[in-house]
Formats: sequence, structure tokens, C-alpha cells
Amino acid sequence: MSISIPHGGKLVNRFVDSNDVDGLTRKAESLKKIVLTPREISDLELIATGVFSPLEGFMKSADYHHVLQKMRLKNGLPWSLPITLSVTTAKAVSLKEGMEVALSEETGPPLAILKIEEIFPFDKEKEALSAYGTNDLSHPGVAYTHSLGDLLLGGKITMLRRPPGQAFKENRLEPVQMRKLFEERGWKRVVAFQTRNPIHRAHEYIQKCALEITDGLLLHPIVGETKEGDIPADVRMDCYKVLLDKYYPKNRTVLGVFPAAMRYAGPREAIFHAICRKNYGVTHFIVGRDHAGVGNFYGTYDAQQIFQKYDEGELGIRTLFFEHTFFCKPCLGMISAKTCPHDPSERITLSGTKVREMLRAGTRPPLEFTRPEVADILIKAMS
Ligand code: ADX
Repeated sequence: MSISIPHGGKLVNRFVDSNDVDGLTRKAESLKKIVLTPREISDLELIATGVFSPLEGFMKSADYHHVLQKMRLKNGLPWSLPITLSVTTAKAVSLKEGMEVALSEETGPPLAILKIEEIFPFDKEKEALSAYGTNDLSHPGVAYTHSLGDLLLGGKITMLRRPPGQAFKENRLEPVQMRKLFEERGWKRVVAFQTRNPIHRAHEYIQKCALEITDGLLLHPIVGETKEGDIPADVRMDCYKVLLDKYYPKNRTVLGVFPAAMRYAGPREAIFHAICRKNYGVTHFIVGRDHAGVGNFYGTYDAQQIFQKYDEGELGIRTLFFEHTFFCKPCLGMISAKTCPHDPSERITLSGTKVREMLRAGTRPPLEFTRPEVADILIKAMS
């Protein structure tokens, strides 16, 4: 196996030629303006840079409904979550199919031009039930869906510039750059690890198991919008850097960032995460316990089982599934129930709530759970 072929066969690039930026910016400034939410802005960037290949814009109704009902685009290609742009009914009064509009942040120059190919209504409850498996408003993804305008705009985008103020520039490798880096390093089998948390010992263990059977590890934390209560991306980046520096082989690891918003869609998001990483050139993707889950909405291994809905090879990226791992005292190491024969009472496990309590009180969790260098960064950030 060599570096992954992009999803759908070709890496999308929706940026205009640099010679046309000024002219098209002037044109965009004369168009009706649509102000995007932070998630829509990150989606826009991910479409333009090819992370969402083969999508070239925000979904039209045929793709949207296929994705919700069948987990596939209209052309049959696997895709698990809607990528949409919403407007209020009041705003839509001034819009028509066939029209071009400027996509922008609240202030600043236009970021892109959207050619509106379709304006269509959508059923928020149906979307929530399909994408998240629940319509419970305490689920952050469901709450987001219900906060949107009532109509969706579908069509291709033309990107004029990246959103300003991009964080983590040094690690913000886009698919083209990431693929080049893997090639330069001669990596044929690259495993990606998605995370929205600091790296605890369980994470480190499964990453290193995966690295034993691949050429390189892409540590790929999500740095778009996350829910309140999650640890901010800048604090997490400090944790990742210290850990990679001290405990990982430099010539076999890369720290990137995944500038998407977290959806908390559990199983469907696991598929979405895998497809996006494939577009970065990755060949293997780790899915552990309750991947992209929140609260008790999903079963521990739902995000692994959902991959069976596709035929083998259809996704074009291999999954590496891991059971819940923990430190076992008699084993003297990280392990899972698959390989550990001891009684569960011998395990050192801590709930997220307990860990947060300890960190807030300035106490390092046991080093079988979190490395002290990481604990110290978290304690400082929480004090
Ligand atoms: S996630 O929302 O990004 O999935 P998190 O950062 O906690 O959350 O998890 C990153 C990856 O590690 C996911 O694939 C998750 O399933 C896996 N994972 C987290 N904790 C464990 C654990 N104790 N054992 C096995 N896998 C785990």
C-alpha cells in the first residue's frame, strides 16, 4: 500500500489562481454577503483545501438526503455527515438559485464566493436522528443543528483566501503539504490518531501499538470548535509537543492539526474522521473506545461496528480498532481486557470528571494515567 488515493480519486482544490484574487475580491464585495458560523468557516476551509474531497461545495439536497439515509453521496461514495450552509428564511428572501453570494466572517474581506445551485428546506429533527442517533438537545451536535436557520444553500465554492488569524501555523499542514511530507519521509503506511483530549497513557499506548506496525504516526488533534468543558486546543498543543519531544521517536511522528469542528456524532463521525484523514494521505486510522462520543449517547464500540456498513476496501483506509485500555498493576503496564488476565479491580482507571477534579486541585493524576509533564501543563492551565 502507498499513500492513500484521495476519496473519490482526486484531491479537491477550490482556491482561485493568485492572479485572480484581487479581481474576484472586488466582485465578491459587490455581492450579497452571508456571514458564516465558526463551524461553517472551518468547513469552507476544509472543502477548499481538499480535506473534504470529493466535495467541492456545500451539499445540495440529493447528497444531503443520501448521506442522512444511506451514509453515501448520491454517486454511491461513502460519506457519513452532512456538510451544509444554512440561512434564515428572512435572509433567503433576498436570495435566488443561480445567484452568486460572498461568504464572510462578521468583519473582514470576503473569504469565498458561493454559486447558489439550490435553496432547500431541511428537517432538523430528522437530521439529528440520522446524524447523531438522537434528538436530545443536551447533545451538543443536536443543539447546533437546532440553532441553524431553516434553509440550506447548496453549491460549489470558490475560495479567495484562508480565514485570517489561523492558529498553529507551524503544524497546520494541508493535505497537499502532508502528502508531500509523507513522501519525503518515505512513509508508505501512515497511521492517524484523532483526538480532542490531552494524550493520556491509554492514548499513547494505542498510538505506539499502531506505530509498531506502520511507518509513521500522524498525531492529528482536532482544533476547530469544541464544546464547553473540553480542554482548549492551545493547551492541548503544549501537551502534545512536550510528549512528542520526550517520549516519541522524532523521525517517525508528525504533529499536525485537523481544523474541523467537533460534531460529537460518535459512530458517524468516526467514518467522517477516517475519510478526512485519508485525504491527508494517511493509510490507517485508529478507532478506540467511544470514538467522538459524548455523555452516554453511544455504546463503547458503536464507532467500530459502524464500519461494517461498508464493504471491505470501500473506504480506502484501514481501521485499527482498539479495546478500552488501562494500566494493570500485576501486568505492570498498559493493556486491554483482550490481553490482560487479571481482575478488573487491579486496573488504574479514572473518570474524566475525577481527572478534572484532581487537576483543578493542583494534584497530578497517577503517572500510570497521565505523564507528569502533561499533568503540569494542565494544572497550570486550570489554575
Ligand atoms: S475523541 O472524541 O477525539 O474520539 P479522545 O481524544 O478521548 O476523544 O479519543 C481519541 C481516540 O482514542 C479515539 O479513537 C478513542 O476511541 C480512543 N481512546 C480514548 N481513550 C481510550 C482508552 N482508554 N482505550 C482505548 N481507546 C481510547
